Amino acid sequence: MNHKNMKQKLEFVIKDKIFVSIASIIFLIITGYIIVNYLTPEWKMYQQDFTSVVEEKLGVNRAATVRGGLQQIYVKDLGVTDRCITCHMGMEWKGMENVEQPFRSHPKEILAKHPITKFGCTPCHGGQGYATDMQAAHGFAPFWEEPLLGKELAEFYVISDKKAMMQMNCNTCHRYDKETNGMSVINRAKQIVNDKGCRACHVVNGRGGTVGPDLTFEGEKSAEQFNYERIKGFASMFTWHITHFKNPKELVPETVMPSFGFSSSDAQSLALLVMSWKKGKLPIEYIPGNNFKDVPSKEEIEKEERMKNGPGAFFVQRRCFVCHSVSSLGVEAAAQIGPDLALAVEDVQSRFGRTLDDFLMKPTGTMEVVLSTMLPLTKEERLEAIEKLRHAYELKKNEKKTVVKK
Ligand code: HEC
Ligand code: HEC
Ligand code: HEC
Ligand code: HEC
Ligand code: HEC
Repeated sequence: MNHKNMKQKLEFVIKDKIFVSIASIIFLIITGYIIVNYLTPEWKMYQQDFTSVVEEKLGVNRAATVRGGLQQIYVKDLGVTDRCITCHMGMEWKGMENVEQPFRSHPKEILAKHPITKFGCTPCHGGQGYATDMQAAHGFAPFWEEPLLGKELAEFYVISDKKAMMQMNCNTCHRYDKETNGMSVINRAKQIVNDKGCRACHVVNGRGGTVGPDLTFEGEKSAEQFNYERIKGFASMFTWHITHFKNPKELVPETVMPSFGFSSSDAQSLALLVMSWKKGKLPIEYIPGNNFKDVPSKEEIEKEERMKNGPGAFFVQRRCFVCHSVSSLGVEAAAQIGPDLALAVEDVQSRFGRTLDDFLMKPTGTMEVVLSTMLPLTKEERLEAIEKLRHAYELKKNEKKTVVKK
């Protein structure tokens, strides 16, 4: 630089020094701010925001009552430590019904029956109660298997009812209810399980048949236990169940589980229901009505007794009634999967071009699978079945004649 004299040069150097010092101070402040910001936990910022929102909505006095610092709900009986309220601070505040999340007050009705001091948050919502940053708390973290059962997960699974997933958790406690308010999707699935006679083949809640696997703790199975080779597109336990419900043979070609023709939404409901069937280790006071048995209705008991003691007892004891009615012997199928056997003598002849004797000794199709794996019958038992079916056929023919005569 071209300074005219020493004095000018000195002035320049001083100016330069001042400039450099100011610049470095500004730089330090910015760095400091970044570091402090980095070290300030996410939740502290939410708490500051919450205080401002309260101030704006409810005034300075109320804002002064906001409690800061880590907040948690500890429920010893459930083994739950939930810090969600560290951010979700407005849970039980009045006047915060319409503010932004995470500050909005909680829908009231559900908490009236399940106070948060006794239930925490995660038994319903899922997520990682102990965590204090949002990603981890909402459970989208490595090694955490119970993410928040909320919108994000519902979108991930492409489920039509975005609020349905949480009902899986509701059902860990409400599993023995026939139906429960606020659990429409699970209620629907429970209805289907009854109507379609799934218990004919599966043990559910400790009772039912053993043709298929016991489903009482189906929800304990892990994703690795399913075979996804035949799944088209995104493979998860949820999509496995949906595909299987729509057409079991698509995934398990040799299965005898029938295709019930379920709609997508029914298949989704059933998938959520079977995935909700977990062991759960709940103290009895958390089971609604202290009822933890699935009690068959009076009609169901009476019907089974009647069939067991009636002329069709053989077909009930040998569990043919799982799939077949034998109408002339008073046997009513649990799930109408095979034809009414009262007409078998005639029907086998016309459908298979063989005698009934021949068919039962060397069956084909579904009955080949049934008699070789599920219900092995000895030669004597097969002969007994044939004789009984002849008798049933006589009765059926007589029934028909009397109808015609009238
Ligand atoms: C660090 C702060 C923070 C913590 C801790 C936190 N949340 Fe959130 N939560 C948020 C914010 C912010 C939103 C709104 C933005 C969003 O939806 O992603 C939110 C949204 C939600 C929603 C509505 C969104 C949905 O997917 O349905 C639910 C439910 C929820 N949180 C439950 C919980 C539960 C349960 C816990 C404790 C296990 C928890 N949160 C812990 C910050 C937090
Ligand atoms: C008994 C079960 C239950 C408990 C316990 C519970 N919630 Fe909820 N929560 C619900 C239900 C049901 C809804 C309404 C769901 C809906 O309409 O999507 C809800 C809604 C919410 C929402 C709003 C979701 C949205 O879509 O905007 C948030 C956030 C939330 N809960 C957080 C919590 C937190 C935090 C706790 C613990 C302090 C808690 N909940 C305890 C059942 C529960
Ligand atoms: C940790 C166990 C548990 C979970 C999870 C749970 N509940 Fe409950 N729920 C109970 C208990 C226990 C009662 C009975 C309370 C009482 O008798 O006052 C109850 C009562 C109810 C009632 C009132 C029933 C009646 O007959 O009065 C409804 C409705 C209900 N729950 C729905 C839900 C929904 C919806 C969810 C999921 C969002 C849910 N519950 C999650 C344990 C649970
Ligand atoms: C005729 C007997 C039969 C009926 C009725 C039946 N299933 Fe099955 N189910 C089976 C058999 C056998 C399997 C094992 C082979 C397979 O996966 O398809 C099975 C498998 C399953 C599985 C997969 C279990 C696993 O972990 O691999 C589920 C879930 C299931 N059934 C649910 C149901 C439901 C719900 C119903 C009623 C809507 C039903 N089943 C009706 C015979 C039956
Ligand atoms: C898991 C369901 C299932 C069970 C259990 C079952 N069946 Fe069948 N059965 C069928 C189906 C389905 C058919 C129809 C033939 C086919 O599609 O291959 C059938 C056909 C038959 C037929 C031919 C009937 C006709 O009208 O064509 C006879 C006879 C028969 N079964 C006898 C029995 C006997 C006896 C038992 C008990 C030991 C039994 N079945 C148990 C599913 C079952």
